[in-house]
Amino acid sequence: MKRFMTFLFGIIFCLAAIAVGGYLYVRSGHMPVATSAPPMPFEKRIAGMALNAKIQAEAPKDAPIQPDEPNLTAGAQIYAVNCAFCHGLPNQTAAPTAAKGMFPVPPQLFEHTVTDDPVGETYWKVANGIRLTGMPSFSKSLSDTQMWQVSLLMAHADKLPDQAKAVLTPNAAATVKK
Ligand code: HEC
Repeated sequence: MKRFMTFLFGIIFCLAAIAVGGYLYVRSGHMPVATSAPPMPFEKRIAGMALNAKIQAEAPKDAPIQPDEPNLTAGAQIYAVNCAFCHGLPNQTAAPTAAKGMFPVPPQLFEHTVTDDPVGETYWKVANGIRLTGMPSFSKSLSDTQMWQVSLLMAHADKLPDQAKAVLTPNAAATVKK
């Protein structure tokens, strides 16, 4: 019994030490809270693992609409208004202004195309957003069909019809009706 009590006491002491250590770390001002601060050790990996596990469990497998010309062109219009100021346009050399100061920096989606990602995965990200990044959830601002249209645009970014491409030039994007 005595040995067990010592053992139990040891565990309680360790847990308390971890809690106090964590508290002191946060209070000491060493935890990165600025967007411009470098990531914490394993921050990216842990966040990535959590996100992938959630998407595996929840993302729908197939799109309920076809990747035809009207849907892709509608997707391009949605992209020009809602996404381009963070994720850029095709053949755009510099990242949009605000995007440069974000952490994590929004990937330029037409440079590193998300074409390989399953369309349901992109839909999940558009609908839900990605916590602790600047990626917003669009489920309150776009309809379900619109979210699928812009997700299909991403999945077909390397083989878009001309009508959709025409919307994704800087001048055309600036004049798309909001
Ligand atoms: C305010 C800036 C912002 C806007 C607007 C925005 N995003 Fe994002 N998005 C981000 C950031 C930041 C990330 C990176 C998250 C990360 O690193 O995990 C991201 C990630 C993504 C990803 C995942 C990319 C990958 O490589 O896995 C997709 C897909 C995406 N966004 C699509 C969209 C679409 C489609 C829209 C418009 C409907 C949009 N985003 C609007 C900031 C934005």
